Amino acid sequence: MHFSNARVALSTALLAFLPSSLALSLSRRATVCNGHEEFCDRSYGNVSFVGAHNSYAVGTNNLATNQDYDVTQQLNDGIRMLQMQAHMQNDVIHLCHSSCVLYDGGTLEDYLTKVKTWMDANTNDVVTLLIVNSDGATPSQFDSVFQSVGLTDLSYTPTSSPMVYTDWPTLGSMIDGGNRLVTFMDSGADSTQVSYIIDEFTNMWETAYDVTDPTFDCNVNRTKGDSSTQLYTINHFLDEEVSVIATSVAPDKDALNTTNAASGDGSLGEQASECGVQYGRSPNFMLVDFYEYGGGSVFEVAATLNGVTYAPSSPIATPIPDTTDSSTSSSSATISTFSVPPGLWAGLGTFVSGTIMGVWTIL
Ligand SMILES: *[C@@H]1O[C@H](CO)[C@@H](O)[C@H](O)[C@H]1NC(C)=O
Ligand SMILES: *[C@@H]1O[C@H](CO)[C@@H](O)[C@H](O)[C@H]1NC(C)=O
Ligand SMILES: *[C@@H]1O[C@H](CO)[C@@H](O)[C@H](O)[C@H]1NC(C)=O
Repeated sequence: MHFSNARVALSTALLAFLPSSLALSLSRRATVCNGHEEFCDRSYGNVSFVGAHNSYAVGTNNLATNQDYDVTQQLNDGIRMLQMQAHMQNDVIHLCHSSCVLYDGGTLEDYLTKVKTWMDANTNDVVTLLIVNSDGATPSQFDSVFQSVGLTDLSYTPTSSPMVYTDWPTLGSMIDGGNRLVTFMDSGADSTQVSYIIDEFTNMWETAYDVTDPTFDCNVNRTKGDSSTQLYTINHFLDEEVSVIATSVAPDKDALNTTNAASGDGSLGEQASECGVQYGRSPNFMLVDFYEYGGGSVFEVAATLNGVTYAPSSPIATPIPDTTDSSTSSSSATISTFSVPPGLWAGLGTFVSGTIMGVWTIL
């Protein structure tokens, strides 16, 4: 009799005595992690993920939006980092772009409810949130929202502070342990108050953002730690100057096919590989606007960096172009080439009058 047969016989006999739910949980071991077998044994700090810049700022014909599709579709299509700006609106955390008068994407609670629903339906995926805490809300204010949505149990708590990029557990162990939501916040995090809200800049550095020059560089732009041991994010979204009442910047939509491409001047693929060469390791997160331009090229870039093949099980969403023809605009789009919805006009008026007239920025 072969030893292995004896083992099988023994474990079958043992299983017969165990309650079926316990037997199931004992044998649960993720074999596919974030879509790939290879990732289960790989550290979270050694995977490149695609992120949606201002993932809640969804819409067309609106200079304050950065995405065509909402968070559920973003996740379905392969986005695994969700970047957002949190603002206080009547004591409630909303996701707004620069100001809630300019663009209000609804409450954090409604947004996170969608994330929770998606994660419950996709139990083999690790998802990362990157929160810009614009109005200095407290960790406990965020925690109340996570509690009410039911996301605290899914949240990952770091084992040290800061976490060196090699300290991060494997995707497989995060998935098996059920702690597969990682939350970073740019300011105001305090692990002694809320352990799973992770201070961004002691754990991660970023390249410059809101650039209008398509030669995206890889320089460390923001950090509060030793960049050589931190995770890192590249901000690969191109802006252009726009003149609406005052001069500002908004996504350069005409350049999206080039910006999101897998290769070529100004492409995501080019910046990612340059950064990989410069630092000896690939970016962990790559934030993009209107991710579906390029027909999946942004996910192809990540797959290439990760050494796997991009093969979506169903086609991803397709771009929703602005209904006004902005193809005549070059580096500078003006009011006449965009139809700005009335809500945005009203918002802009209030926003600008409450600001020093002149240059302002939609971050
Ligand atoms: C970050 O990038 C911005 C935009 O390119 C630049 O103005 C600023 O000087 C940079 N800061 C650092 C510390 O590199
Ligand atoms: C971007 O690429 C798509 C698909 O190839 C094409 O239909 C569209 O016209 C392109 N957009 C621009 C602005 O070049
Ligand atoms: C993961 O490790 C491999 C091998 O060292 C490296 O080539 C790759 O750039 C790493 N990726 C990330 C995101 O760290």
